[in-house]
Formats: sequence, structure tokens, C-alpha cells
Amino acid sequence: MTQYVNIALPKGRLGEKVYSLFAEAGFECPSILEENRKLIFENPGRGVRYFWVKPSDVAVYVERGAADIGVCGKDILLESSPEVYELLDLKTGKCRMAVASRKDFREDHRRPLRVATKFVNIAQDYYSSIGREIDIIELNGSIEIAPILGLSDVIVDIVETGTTLRENDLVETEKIMDISARLISNKSSYEFKKEKIEQITNSVGLLVSNRK
Ligand code: PRP
Repeated sequence: MTQYVNIALPKGRLGEKVYSLFAEAGFECPSILEENRKLIFENPGRGVRYFWVKPSDVAVYVERGAADIGVCGKDILLESSPEVYELLDLKTGKCRMAVASRKDFREDHRRPLRVATKFVNIAQDYYSSIGREIDIIELNGSIEIAPILGLSDVIVDIVETGTTLRENDLVETEKIMDISARLISNKSSYEFKKEKIEQITNSVGLLVSNRK
């Protein structure tokens, strides 16, 4: 019976890019490229089973062992601190976590800064590191609207090209950190399927370092 390595990929453009990397590294699964609504694909010959999950759920699948390995953004690892091993920086899906505000915003240090974000822990850690008191407003998306409508003073969010900020007349004021996609592993899978997981990590890692 084939022993599969179960791999959770983030559904969307980043996941497709990452799948190409895995395929190039020798862990292809051609059925994944068929146009359909299936979510699970396997290649018994290579011993890999891929599944598409919501990007923010990858770490949950891996932490609980439903997936042996997976790919997710460093932002999610920092925000939710899952109990997983971080094996590799895939140097793709590059973006940054930044603070942005309206162009005309002037900070009033006498009161807490109102910060809208999906990344509550990252924002709290950042502002406590600079000693600024904040009032967190947790949102789930379209964060850029918050300062425009006066719900918050600033936002802490992901910036990739900067287009969303520009088109909403916001400006980036501070960069908190660079972000990229990481290969992560379930801790016990890493012991039980060590050989195969290391084989994948090394082959993909070699490709990533040759690409630089
Ligand atoms: C992310 C982020 C910004 C946008 C930044 O949103 O929250 O809105 O991408 O990209 P840009 O700098 O290239 O414009 P996403 O599309 O993930 O959706 P969200 O609103 O659910 O966060």
C-alpha cells in the first residue's frame, strides 16, 4: 500500500505557483491541473496526495495532522503560532505587513491609536514593541475601508503591490516585516515520514536556492 505524504496547498494563485515548484522538484500530480471542482489529488507513483484548502486554514490541517506538510504565509505563522515545524522559506508569495493611514492623518499621542486589522497578535506585538497604546478593531477583510470611514486611525495589513492602498488614497507609513510562503510540517509526521518529507524539503529547497 502506498504511504502518502499529505500536502495542504493554499487555494489560489500562490498555491498554483507552489504546486509548480513541487512538480518541478519531482513530486508532480498531473490530475491537479484538470479543470474541475475536486479538492484532493494523488499520485501513487510519487507517493504524494495534494489538497487545496483556504490559505488561512493550511496551518490548522498541518498542526492537527490531517496534512503532513503544507504551505502557508509567515503572517499566519506569526499570527496564530501553530505547533508545527517551519522547514523552508519558499521565497515566493512575497509581500509585507505594514501600517497605513489616510494621507491627512495626524497622530494624537494623548489617546490610544485605533488600529483595524485581521492580524490582531502581530499588531499588538508591534505596537507593544514601540510602546504605543492601541485600541484594536478586528476585521475580516476589506480592511482599507476602515480609515476611510473613520472606523480606525490606521490599518495593519498585507501590502503586495501597493495598488489597494493607492486606489483607496491610503499611504504606507511603517513596514512591520517582510512576509513569504513557508513549508511547514506536522511534528509527528516529521518523525514518522521523515525520509520522504526530507526528500521533498531538500529537492524543493534546492530549486528555490537555484532560482535566486
Ligand atoms: C490583501 C490585503 C490587501 C491586498 C494587498 O487582500 O489585505 O487588501 O491583498 O495587495 P496589493 O498591495 O497588491 O494591492 P486579499 O486580497 O487577501 O483580501 P482581504 O481583503 O480578504 O484581506
